[in-house]
Amino acid sequence: MTAPYTVRLNASNQEVVLSGVIRPEHARQLADVVARIEHFVADLHGTVFFNLKRLRHLNHTAFLTLARCLARICQTRPALALKVVITSVIPWAEKRFAFLASELPTLTVETYDDEFYPGQKLIEQTSLIPCLRTQTNILWKSERELMPRHGLTRGMKIADICCGIGDFAALVHREFAPTQVVAVDHSQPFLDYARGVAEQFGLTDIEYRRGDASNLLLDDDSFDFVTCRLALQIFDKPEEILAELYRITKPTGRVYLTNEFMSHIFGYPRDASIRWTYRRSSEIFAHLGMDLDFGPKMRAFLTDCGFTDIRIDSIHVSNANTDADDFKRVVQSWSDYIINEVATAANADEETKQRLRRGFEDHMYAITHRRGFASWPVCVASGQKPRRK
Ligand SMILES: C[S@@+](CC[C@H](N)C(=O)[O-])C[C@H]1O[C@@H](n2cnc3c(N)ncnc32)[C@H](O)[C@@H]1O
Repeated sequence: MTAPYTVRLNASNQEVVLSGVIRPEHARQLADVVARIEHFVADLHGTVFFNLKRLRHLNHTAFLTLARCLARICQTRPALALKVVITSVIPWAEKRFAFLASELPTLTVETYDDEFYPGQKLIEQTSLIPCLRTQTNILWKSERELMPRHGLTRGMKIADICCGIGDFAALVHREFAPTQVVAVDHSQPFLDYARGVAEQFGLTDIEYRRGDASNLLLDDDSFDFVTCRLALQIFDKPEEILAELYRITKPTGRVYLTNEFMSHIFGYPRDASIRWTYRRSSEIFAHLGMDLDFGPKMRAFLTDCGFTDIRIDSIHVSNANTDADDFKRVVQSWSDYIINEVATAANADEETKQRLRRGFEDHMYAITHRRGFASWPVCVASGQKPRRK
């Protein structure tokens, strides 16, 4: 075997969970896997789930062995319903298991794709594209200066995980001449957009790939610099994503993160209204399983994940250092998105929406006011994967 795998029973869900990479040379090497599956299933009735969502690779020998095992169960236990749960980010899975389902009457296949984290449907929306694009525009001039302090140099192998519309990967490619850039996102529309922009700009060597950040189809220890920007904050289990970022980073390579501190976005005048809106927005996101105040927690999560040499920074976007129209455009896109999508998904009432709208308008007022001050704090952190002992 070139990489480890696990087979376990999640008894409360009647679920056999296979994860990792299964690449045997001979079927007999999987005798223990088959025996365990048969043992798990022996005591179960009704529907048994085979959860393959975290199975990164299954070679042909392993697929045949598993297929034969499932066929045997269907034959010997005709009253048992087998449901195989796969994800479409594994390119081979749908085709192979659809064939199996057509052959075995009690086996069905379900593609799981939209519940990686509770707020997923809200994030992977094309209405977010203008917002992401203007945010990157604003942040790039600070990040370009900051990233060398966090270990980025020219000629590195770079992965941008949760790359969104791919603009950051394109900017890094231009500025830091990496030897390889792989940019991964789960949203197909964002990736289509990213590929379109790369083509327009004549950037042919960025590899935009569809994938799941909590189960990346990328090898261990393969990148010098792994970025994940404004993204850990949307997951309810950020530690799982961080563990994947750690896994794909080379020993002595670094993971670079940015996240927000939404409840501390501020402005003056009309400061009370602005403060209320961002605090309330952060609470609404939290209600939907997202932590838009994740920024200050990054050091703790990096430490707990095993990173060393942790470096932290903050970017203070303000009307003193950023073009007022760009800044207003970002606030306007937050306003539209938070009120129309996020607050609606959280069943916020009309009065709350009105008050939220007023706070965003007041923030925009502060941005252009002659005596005004308006800010958007973004936290930055990076950590090194230690050298192997
Ligand atoms: C707030 S956006 C940030 C995008 C980009 N890093 C930026 O700064 O513009 C979060 C991104 O995470 C992506 N995403 C969500 N769930 C994902 C998953 N399970 N695997 C990979 N990407 C995911 C979304 O499609 C979205 O592009």
